[in-house]
Amino acid sequence: MSRNLWLHFAQHGNGITPPVITRGEGVTIYDDRGKSYLDALSGLFVVQVGYGRAELAEAAAKQAEKLAFFPLWGNTTPPAIELAERLAGYAPGDLNRVFFTNGGTEAVETAWKVAKQYFKLVGKPNKYKVISRAIAYHGTTQGALSITGLPKYKEAFEPLAPGGFRVPTTNFYRAPEPFDTDAKAFGRWAADRIAEAIEFEGPDTVAAVFLEPVQNAGGSYPPPPGYFERVREICDEYDVLLVSDEVICAFGRIGSMFACDDFGYRPDLITCAKGMTSGYSPLGAMIASDRVFEPFNDGKTTFRHGYTFGGHPVSAAVGLANLDIFEREGLNEHVKEQSPILRATLEKLYDLPIVGDVRGEGFFFGIELVKDQATKQKFTDDERSSLLKRAGAELFEAGLYCRTDDRGDSVIQIAPPLISGPAEFDAIESILRSVLREIRVD
Ligand SMILES: Cc1ncc(COP(=O)(O)O)c(C=O)c1O
Repeated sequence: MSRNLWLHFAQHGNGITPPVITRGEGVTIYDDRGKSYLDALSGLFVVQVGYGRAELAEAAAKQAEKLAFFPLWGNTTPPAIELAERLAGYAPGDLNRVFFTNGGTEAVETAWKVAKQYFKLVGKPNKYKVISRAIAYHGTTQGALSITGLPKYKEAFEPLAPGGFRVPTTNFYRAPEPFDTDAKAFGRWAADRIAEAIEFEGPDTVAAVFLEPVQNAGGSYPPPPGYFERVREICDEYDVLLVSDEVICAFGRIGSMFACDDFGYRPDLITCAKGMTSGYSPLGAMIASDRVFEPFNDGKTTFRHGYTFGGHPVSAAVGLANLDIFEREGLNEHVKEQSPILRATLEKLYDLPIVGDVRGEGFFFGIELVKDQATKQKFTDDERSSLLKRAGAELFEAGLYCRTDDRGDSVIQIAPPLISGPAEFDAIESILRSVLREIRVD
């Protein structure tokens, strides 16, 4: 272990020695001892096209040789122009204006700043607050962290940017009565909590609602039927911008370039990153509708915001080459076709009493572990943390890289590279089964 590296979201000291990952090929990663693991998390929901794609490395090298860097601060570069055009083409409706960042947090931060300035420009200067869902993760800078709904992630850094408020998730498995038997009624109820929060805070003060198409933290909560339709109505009624945070869900994770298309809603802003380059170079983006961009397009207004490396030409060139692979190999179609097989494979695990719920969409699933399958009884906080720590270590030891998530209930997350198929699904199921069958809870 390097004495100099400070890891992200990790504990240090006391003999902790993190794995050293040295190489990847297809869906497999290797550590410094040569041991291989099936990557069932695509790194961190990133490596959509799998590892070892020489053409992406070549695209990076070619661009670096030609123009290694130039900022988008009042200038532009051919790969940034081309990628913006391409993203606008994939994005629904009039979402045509692309602001590049380095990653997802910066995209979220950018969206909030756009929303605030937009309302100042259109004569509603008091609209600055944001609503998001409990447990949802939207990033780590002090603005994005205000939008994140995880109190534990914030407590060390309070006070954060003021103005973040939370509403309930769309966790149907744990829906409150009487909505626990009717997904549509639950969707309506959950969406109406947004209207209620806007009323509680004052409609003249709320700028935006940030929602993931399928919420990651807590374990892949899909939207119930009708949820986003109702959210769109609420946003229109109160003149609040709907931000689709697709940092995980875009670029094929659910089976389309943008997941709002998978669920049939039209956001005002999209935030995305991760899969745009499959991780071969860092890149993120905030995409705005023509309506939101319009007041910034008057020849005199400046959006005083940017990042030196945002839309880096090497990353943009890699993004274009990555999207070429999507098109050539039909990866979105592959995900749509294979997702029911992945779901059915994971659902085989229901014969283990510890498996309470298998949920998700596309190549993005959560498996909730419970104390009692019949009553859905949860583990206590202490049990959960020891269970997930042990499960994570044992799964990794057994050759499966995935994620154990204790941010909501006890969840194992599965999000393999989009090139995966039944052979990988079976291997994932078999390792999960071997570990979950034996796991002790104390
Ligand atoms: C929905 C969502 N938003 C924002 C972020 C932050 O992205 P990044 O880690 O690229 O800054 C993440 C990261 O996982 C995410 O899942």
